[in-house]
Amino acid sequence: MTTTTPAVPSVPSQAPDPASDPLAVLGAGVRVPLADGGETEYAALDYAASAPVLRQVWDDVAAYAPYYGSVHRGAGHLSRLSTRLFEESRETVARFLGCRPGDQVVFTRSTTDSLNLLAAAAPAGTRVLVFESEHHAALLPWRRRHDVTYLPVPRSPEEAVRTAERALRAAPSGPKLLCVTGASNVTGELWPVRELAAAARRHGARVVLDAAQLAPHRPVDLAALDVDWVAFSGHKLYAPFGSGVLAGRADWLRRAEPYLAGGGASRIVARRADGGVDVEWHHDEARHEAGSPNVIGAYAIASACRTLTKAGFDRLLRHEERLLTRLRAGLAAVPAVRPLSLFGPDAARVPVVSFTVDGWDGDAFARALSERHGIGVRSGLFCAQPLVRALLDDTGPVAGCDGPLQPVRVSFGAGTPTAHIDRLLRAVRELTE
Ligand code: ALA
Repeated sequence: MTTTTPAVPSVPSQAPDPASDPLAVLGAGVRVPLADGGETEYAALDYAASAPVLRQVWDDVAAYAPYYGSVHRGAGHLSRLSTRLFEESRETVARFLGCRPGDQVVFTRSTTDSLNLLAAAAPAGTRVLVFESEHHAALLPWRRRHDVTYLPVPRSPEEAVRTAERALRAAPSGPKLLCVTGASNVTGELWPVRELAAAARRHGARVVLDAAQLAPHRPVDLAALDVDWVAFSGHKLYAPFGSGVLAGRADWLRRAEPYLAGGGASRIVARRADGGVDVEWHHDEARHEAGSPNVIGAYAIASACRTLTKAGFDRLLRHEERLLTRLRAGLAAVPAVRPLSLFGPDAARVPVVSFTVDGWDGDAFARALSERHGIGVRSGLFCAQPLVRALLDDTGPVAGCDGPLQPVRVSFGAGTPTAHIDRLLRAVRELTE
């Protein structure tokens, strides 16, 4: 099959109305070209990489855009307004995450950036415990400055807790940090965060939660989960304007060298009598937000937090559960499809499903879904290579496939219509017949 060159898409004239559906997203009705010369409505089924933008978020950003100005560095009315909205966005995110008094909410670029910031802020030589099954964003940042214990991939939530508990017990004295994921970006399976946090507490360790895949689907409450920090990305939370969040305990953040040195992070920069300069850094969030803050990104995340809270996660969960059951039952009926799972078919999960297909390399399969059916999914190792390789060992050799094997991932959320799941299932059946 020839590869089609992506053309500028036609945009629907009728945008969804947030009054009738508070969780409506943009992109409904966008038409994309097919390899046979036709076109079809795009089915976005790659939310785990980047979710579409919530209509309400877009409207809020558009309403604010004419008033956009610099943050923390201008006396003009619009600068003061932007500063206020930026700081109010911080408060909104703190409420969304159930932050405790004294916690900080630092705006970053992404989950990866947030976890790298925490790695830079943790006292040098902190013992970091992390499962090999983590996304690279949670697996890799610690190696530069800390002692890392990689925990073997567990095959049940109970085994995860037992493994962590054993490693925590064996860890030498000194600062310890357990990094855990809320929901896997490969299998969608939920991790026993509360139980892992309790194990960490029993051994005097701190906990950071990678909520990149959890926050878009479930409420995340720092205090209730008893974790020290949480990291997530705006672009997976329907707010794709280049911001992420690291929220939680202030002490390590206050004591650390600023993540970036520069204006905004520095409170006083003074010439020394003997030459050179002395710097006094801020102690609040500004310490790690040097440079002009991304006010639109922060404002968009706050809007997404408000919109999801107001609509209610219950409503979203019902929608997602219904479609997830339909998708998994449909895939189970296709003999060539082999789902990837760590904790088994009954594990609680968010709507992220990966699978291999007998006779197909995942990249080719994903391309065929796009070119023949207008469906967008992701294939590959999903920036979680140790996990995917462990799961592929389970499935064994894939029949009829001698190239490098890649799974395919389908993920969705707010605004996904049933018709897109049904189209995906029809396409999978057709491609495997
Ligand atoms: N972490 C993102 C994903 O899983 C990019 O696709």
